[in-house]
Amino acid sequence: MTPQLTQEVYVAAKKRRTFAIISHPDAGKTTLTEKLLLYSGMVRTAGMVGARKSRKLATSDWMAMEQERGISITSSAMQFPYKDIIINVLDTPGHQDFCEDTYRTLTAADSAIMVIDAAKGVETQTRKLFEVCRLRKIPVLTFINKMDLEGRPPLDLMTEVEEVLGIHASAVDWPVGSGSEFRGVVNREHRQLLLFTKTASAGASRPDLMELPLDDPSVKGRLSPYVWNQLKHDLELLEVAGNPFSLDAFQNGEVTPVFFGSALTNFGVEAFFDAFVKLAPAAQGRLADTPDGQEVFLDPAETPFSAYVFKLQANMNPRHRDSTAFLRVCSGRFDRDMVVKHHQGKGKVRLSRPHSMVAKDRNTLDVAYPGDIIGIINPGVFQIGDTISLTDGFNYKPLPQFQPEVFAHVRPADTTMRKSFDKGLNQLILEGTIQILRTLDDLDFFIGAVGRLQFDVLEFRLKSEYRVDVLLDIMSYEASAWLEGPVETFKIPSDEVIVKDGRGRPVVLFRSPWSKNYARKHNPDHTLLDMG
Ligand code: G4P
Repeated sequence: MTPQLTQEVYVAAKKRRTFAIISHPDAGKTTLTEKLLLYSGMVRTAGMVGARKSRKLATSDWMAMEQERGISITSSAMQFPYKDIIINVLDTPGHQDFCEDTYRTLTAADSAIMVIDAAKGVETQTRKLFEVCRLRKIPVLTFINKMDLEGRPPLDLMTEVEEVLGIHASAVDWPVGSGSEFRGVVNREHRQLLLFTKTASAGASRPDLMELPLDDPSVKGRLSPYVWNQLKHDLELLEVAGNPFSLDAFQNGEVTPVFFGSALTNFGVEAFFDAFVKLAPAAQGRLADTPDGQEVFLDPAETPFSAYVFKLQANMNPRHRDSTAFLRVCSGRFDRDMVVKHHQGKGKVRLSRPHSMVAKDRNTLDVAYPGDIIGIINPGVFQIGDTISLTDGFNYKPLPQFQPEVFAHVRPADTTMRKSFDKGLNQLILEGTIQILRTLDDLDFFIGAVGRLQFDVLEFRLKSEYRVDVLLDIMSYEASAWLEGPVETFKIPSDEVIVKDGRGRPVVLFRSPWSKNYARKHNPDHTLLDMG
């Protein structure tokens, strides 16, 4: 790379914030995303609310999937400027059956925003997604939402984050009142108070704000005695007992900065976004393996263009039977129609018709930099986790698979449809919706998935995209694990079975999680892995 190009990529990477929003359904992820678009000037809120409503209808009715997919595609990743920063926001499916999809998507993020409902605290899905962030050492910012409704005391919520998630929580902002008395937020470091006055347009535009030093003599008179006393008490307590905030500790995943607000009314939202772009890391480089087994860190600005595939999706547009590969750019500059090396396929590929998404529009993309997500037409050669680059000589870390927990034999209802059935099934295996498993003698195969919903998706997509009705016989296994150690010496409970996955690795299927624990205890020389 020329010094000029390195400098150009360095500056572009520094400007990027690539992140995912994680939350339990209904905590306010969609509303917060809309507000990010609103504050960046990308949309009028009214239009987006309509889209959300239709999406909600569709998610509650999975068979209306055409519509559902129409929306989820547009939100796979969106790019837009926010002030002088370029935002890449990744969509993580909320349903727990899609945790594998979410996992892969999170590998493409450099940070995450965790949205918590102030009345509900840390919920199950949030906990699971947080675990994934911890596993990947992704720094997490916390936004405690719905402060305009009666919720739990902020100090309780901070304690819950610490105890349930096992991370230090450090309040950057502190709420002034809550529920109908939610009046504003205090920035603790600068001791500045932001007071909100309600907007007439119900959250469609910025609220009117008044900014005052906390020590301003007029502050006390502007708040009710209860709110003022509570605020003083909380702030004093935080000074003594609260966790300090350090950028290093945050970026190492040891502490989460906490903010409070209401995505619906916009209160506290802009202050949060401004802090987010300051704190969240810019586009990060990734670790890779060299052919001789060395681990290398590839600097985003010094390394010529490289990227990896974190998501595949076929038939996004029913009128064109195409397949899109989503790439995370890790280093260098991407140029449209570039010819790159496909490391796993060993050949060269032209990256044609690249695009990015802004709200509902697909935009053709001419250049992209580290942190950016590009969708390209998949010429049928890519698999999830594949690396592409200009230089070759390394592979980004393979993306792990989650242990399947539901299993089924599957076949076409009409045997003359076998060819279409095979084609559709292969496509869904490639996309990672389901996993294929075979008996060790190769005489039989069946499918596994993390959740039952993925089988519904399989049935629906084979029918709508490949015109095949399928018959599914659900099997009675409920747990599985990848087996490390010699298969011959593994002591297996009598009614369990060892099979192999799509890459030929041994997988043990168990009738129950209990039986898996039993096998784990009785095979101390073997390892049973939950992620392969
Ligand atoms: P999700 O993507 O995390 O699933 O949540 P979403 O943003 O769709 O929000 C879930 C519900 O919570 C929505 O209400 C939304 O309006 C509401 N909500 C989000 N943020 C806030 C907030 O800060 N304060 C209050 N009071 N409500 C909030 P809904 O009735 O399900 O949908 P809608 O009719 O408002 O679209």
